Amino acid sequence: TLLESSNNGDRVFIFEENEEPQIKRSDFPSGFLFGSATSAYQVEGAYLEDEKSLSNWDVFCHSVGCGVNGENGDIADDHYHVFLRDIELMHSLGLQAYRFSISWARILPRGRFGKVNSAGIMFYNKIIENLILKGIEPFVTIYHVDFPQELEDRYGSWLNPEMQEEFIYFAEICFKAFGDRVKYWITINEPKSVTDYAYEVGIIPPSRCSSPFGNCLDGNSDIEPIIAMHNMLLAHGKAAKIYHENFQPKQGGSIGLTVHSCMYEPLTDSELDQKAANRAFAFHSGWTLDTAIFGDYPEEVKEYLGTNLPSFSNDEKNILKNSIDFIGINHYSTTYVKDCTNSSCSATGNRAIRGFLETVGERDGVLIGELTAVDGSYVVPRGMEEIVNLIKIRYNNKPMFITENGYSSPDAHEQQVNELTNDVKRVEYHVKYLAYLAKSVRGGADVRGYFTWSFMDSYEWLKGYDVRFGLYYVDRQTLTRIPKLSARWYKNFLTNNSDLV
Ligand code: NOJ
Repeated sequence: TLLESSNNGDRVFIFEENEEPQIKRSDFPSGFLFGSATSAYQVEGAYLEDEKSLSNWDVFCHSVGCGVNGENGDIADDHYHVFLRDIELMHSLGLQAYRFSISWARILPRGRFGKVNSAGIMFYNKIIENLILKGIEPFVTIYHVDFPQELEDRYGSWLNPEMQEEFIYFAEICFKAFGDRVKYWITINEPKSVTDYAYEVGIIPPSRCSSPFGNCLDGNSDIEPIIAMHNMLLAHGKAAKIYHENFQPKQGGSIGLTVHSCMYEPLTDSELDQKAANRAFAFHSGWTLDTAIFGDYPEEVKEYLGTNLPSFSNDEKNILKNSIDFIGINHYSTTYVKDCTNSSCSATGNRAIRGFLETVGERDGVLIGELTAVDGSYVVPRGMEEIVNLIKIRYNNKPMFITENGYSSPDAHEQQVNELTNDVKRVEYHVKYLAYLAKSVRGGADVRGYFTWSFMDSYEWLKGYDVRFGLYYVDRQTLTRIPKLSARWYKNFLTNNSDLV
């Protein structure tokens, strides 16, 4: 349990005796950046305002209904209209950095086939300028899940190499318009999660299934998610090359991408499970990171996918190699991994596209950690240190940012506002994960910043508004933001003062 105590008028947060240690700002280097994150579709709303076009998510959610209750992001948190107030809140929280994404459909409603929408440019200019005025460093994700529907209709989006050209065109417009002030770029958020959900199990747009176990029965082969990854990674590499050659020398910023980095532990001590756990990394974060750093797919992925995996030309390898200046790590959970090459698994685990392995949440009837609102996602604080150390070793200690880390309670949908704002578990989650992060930093890992997911409750892709990751509670009727205990804890951690506006 978390107690708040007052010592000489200063409010401090402490854990009861024999609980986890305290974590302090001073446990991290002084230049370490602490921030919070969101993405465009999840918070902006104003889905058709100021010449924004329909995005793939607008169309998807309007047609099939999204989230468990059929909600959508039409209004979301209405951040589009109240961003100034939100930036005030960020400032009051003491945030040093804010990670957000640019809505592609706001900047280029018709992709390369139409003009740049100046209202879109103006909106992000205002966000960036106001952040800077408040001393908050903007971290900008260029593509975070949503893009103009026209690109889906014209090409079938990421299955077509033309999408690479679309992305490069969009990225270059962003570098030109905002790069004088934005010093941290993230090309693509979680390529592997998007391709898994969109092209393998078909639960996000364009809802294509290569897996016969997905939500739809298109009966495609395993190939589509692999092709989508190939196009996305090349799109990233080519955009990063343009940035490195044409913008970085003058603008002096840096560019990276983010991966969904779960930590994988072997289910048993057997060599097969240990290998499967290594393979799990290769098939998830490694698929993206090896490609963006070493210029090619991980050996394990090549071995298991064989001729289904397209290869890169030498030119492409050169473009991809060292295409990132930093690694963005979205870390939430750790699971066990079971080998499926030698023992029977569920049908999904038995497939090459998953590396013949299966993730498992429990061992001998004991869960690896408390389950969260996200399926298969558990609270396992030690995983933070493990994943950072693994990435540090595999990629020669390339600079890292924890671009997302946060907690979602599985009970949020049945809780009242007072329970939702008294989010002791979220505070504990951050304190414990940060304690393990601090350990890895003390051990020499070059981690340079940490972003909570999320700044405020927002639209969660697969689950809608019942999943509440925010430091701020958002009332769905009035859209009022109310600071949760976690917001006060974060402020206290950052500034030794927990008073919020
Ligand atoms: C990863 C994604 O980047 C973000 O959009 C999502 O809301 C969180 N994780 C939580 O699932």
